[in-house]
Amino acid sequence: MSFTLITGASSGIGEAIARRLAPLRPLILCGRSSERLAALQSSIGGGPHLLWPFDLRNVTSATDALSAFLKTHEAAVDAFVHSAGIVKVLPMRDMDCETVAEIMDVNFLAAVQIIRALLRRPVNGRHLSNVVFLSSSYSIRGTKGQAIYSASKGAIDAMMRSLAVELAPDVRLNSIVAGGVPTNMAQAVLRDPELSARNRELYLLGLGKISDVVDAVEFLLSEKASWITGSSMVVDGGLTVR
Ligand SMILES: NC(=O)c1ccc[n+]([C@@H]2O[C@H](COP(=O)([O-])OP(=O)(O)OC[C@H]3O[C@@H](n4cnc5c(N)ncnc54)[C@H](OP(=O)(O)O)[C@@H]3O)[C@@H](O)[C@H]2O)c1
Repeated sequence: MSFTLITGASSGIGEAIARRLAPLRPLILCGRSSERLAALQSSIGGGPHLLWPFDLRNVTSATDALSAFLKTHEAAVDAFVHSAGIVKVLPMRDMDCETVAEIMDVNFLAAVQIIRALLRRPVNGRHLSNVVFLSSSYSIRGTKGQAIYSASKGAIDAMMRSLAVELAPDVRLNSIVAGGVPTNMAQAVLRDPELSARNRELYLLGLGKISDVVDAVEFLLSEKASWITGSSMVVDGGLTVR
């Protein structure tokens, strides 16, 4: 059976993508906590969905771990959504290598390692046909304290464009350049009344909802986007157009 693999499925945008897609296609749900993934699986009605509890900081073992998981379950992956991500807001003078590595590992390198597994012919045949990365408006817009997070998202956008060329016409790759939506990750900003008020002014179309981002992911995964590859789709309520 062919599955859609979603990282970051235990929270926020990834969880909302899983809830939206669960009735439509079999899913492999990736997150760190087995308990939270199991709770999600039961709340979406069980179905054929599989759970892959894995800490993506273990990037060096991610390719082999996913390969082994697919073999054990006799599963293939035709679509991959990388929603796992972390942000640490720190001025560069307080940044250290450990924090840089953590952000790059989860936001960027984990996606590399997963795609390497999905391109292994003995593991996944030629099943992979569609990849969507969750990027951020910070990949194109500067802001204080987020240089490394921005770099991780810029890296994934750049990789997406080159891989779209390398893997065409078999695999379509796109990213969503998302503005802020209310998940755990964005809570710090949204809870701060000053930052929240400033944000309201910046977004031409007002603050976004998680479902605005999920709609775009669903579109890119669908046949309606069959002539779209190598694109960074901006879904940010007009934040970056100014
Ligand atoms: N929310 C926004 O405003 C916004 C805007 C632009 C882009 N984005 C991007 O959208 C994506 C989803 O963000 P979100 O807002 O939904 O954040 P979130 O609610 O904090 O969810 C992050 C997800 O990433 C997973 N994750 C973090 N570290 C991991 C690790 N070491 N191994 C495996 N999984 C790990 C988390 O799993 P655990 O449950 O195990 O922690 C969680 O499922 C991210 O890539 C983010 O950069 C978000």
